[in-house]
Amino acid sequence: MKFLITAGPTREPIDPVRYISNRSSGKMGYAIAQAALDAGHEVVLISGPVALPAPPRAQMVRVTTADEMYDAVHANLVGIDIAVLCAAVADFKPAAFSPHKIKKKLGAPIIEWVPTRDILASLGALPEKYFRLVGFAAETEDLEKNAREKLKKKQCDVVIANDVSAPGLGFESDENELTIYLPYQSGIVLPRASKGDLAKALVKILSAMQ
Ligand code: C5P
Repeated sequence: MKFLITAGPTREPIDPVRYISNRSSGKMGYAIAQAALDAGHEVVLISGPVALPAPPRAQMVRVTTADEMYDAVHANLVGIDIAVLCAAVADFKPAAFSPHKIKKKLGAPIIEWVPTRDILASLGALPEKYFRLVGFAAETEDLEKNAREKLKKKQCDVVIANDVSAPGLGFESDENELTIYLPYQSGIVLPRASKGDLAKALVKILSAMQ
């Protein structure tokens, strides 16, 4: 099977020296890519800026901004069987990029923000979707409610939720705890484990879904 995976944060430049981004190490997405490769699948890994080595044999597409990630995802859909959107995409970007460094002496600037495009929702809305669509939900409260809303709103086949408020889990951590939500089924809990082990279990479950 062929996996398309997004991972890591995006960066939205404000001026040549500043940007806004999200907390994301990319570890979960890279672990899923590695697990899929280890299971003999093909992987296109579309990655924001992270400090991780590329998984050998992954087809890497490196991007910086949410717009670049959106375009890279849509340009790489041909032949994929599963899209796993794990990236922490910035929800807003500055309305305008200042080509010169904004000077401190001018006082705190007021920056106008505009929303970025939602990549996951754009795939859910495709008229002909021949691949499984898997989204992530990083939540600090109401895990199940938010995950199920995301399933419907973004028209995904699966939403994988993690509680990012739990100490020592999620974000930069090497461990996580995940719950897999599919429509009309109770959540499948993958209890606390290394991101590598969780990724293996996830790839097994996702590749068995047809
Ligand atoms: O709505 P929220 O941002 O919490 O949804 C998270 C899910 O949506 C993740 O799978 C993330 O990769 C995806 N997403 C996206 N494009 C965005 C925002 C989120 O693909 N602009």
